[in-house]
Amino acid sequence: MDGVTVIDHPLVRHKLTLMRDRRTSTKTFRQAMRETATLLCYEVTRDLETEAVEIETPMAAMRGEALAGKKLVFAPILRAGVGMLEGMLDMVPSARVAHIGLYRDPATLEAVEYYYKAPEDVAERLVIVLDPMLATGHTAVAAVDRLKEQGAHRLRFVCLLASPRGLETFRAHHPDVPVWTAAVDETLDSHGYILPGLGDAGDRIYGTR
Ligand code: URA
Repeated sequence: MDGVTVIDHPLVRHKLTLMRDRRTSTKTFRQAMRETATLLCYEVTRDLETEAVEIETPMAAMRGEALAGKKLVFAPILRAGVGMLEGMLDMVPSARVAHIGLYRDPATLEAVEYYYKAPEDVAERLVIVLDPMLATGHTAVAAVDRLKEQGAHRLRFVCLLASPRGLETFRAHHPDVPVWTAAVDETLDSHGYILPGLGDAGDRIYGTR
């Protein structure tokens, strides 16, 4: 699908299988999610611009490269998106963070906002939205709506698993926001869970079930 990149690196596939396995412990799940986020971060930042910087090595003066422009923003959707945050920050430690609290109404599956805090100048920064599961797409659409309301206009979305319906919904609402995912699964169940998926990502990261 246009605007969707599936990162099927062997390390990503290996870690994703660990996360899918119901026997995987909370500790291992959380660690695998963090490591996978780091690998996804490498791909989603692949085309960032750099600028020349003059430095001196212990041997000679040279022209090096540094990331250009303002620090980027990671925007995890609470609570499961936070499971991807540290892995992203391992790669880009000086990034800013926007927290977006959204839950899915279990009856309508629509997203309801309960918390939002982003850098004031989010309009001037690249924003990378994080949520491990792009299921119905409603939460992802609402998170990007909210960031755009505040003026953000350079956005990317990163997840671990996407459903075909979630991708269609998201891309229809936000065709300007490309998506990176580790896999596209078959379908959703009647509660909006991805099949075969990995279960409830928040519960598996935090051991709440
Ligand atoms: N959220 C989850 O945590 N898991 C799914 O399968 C869908 C949404």
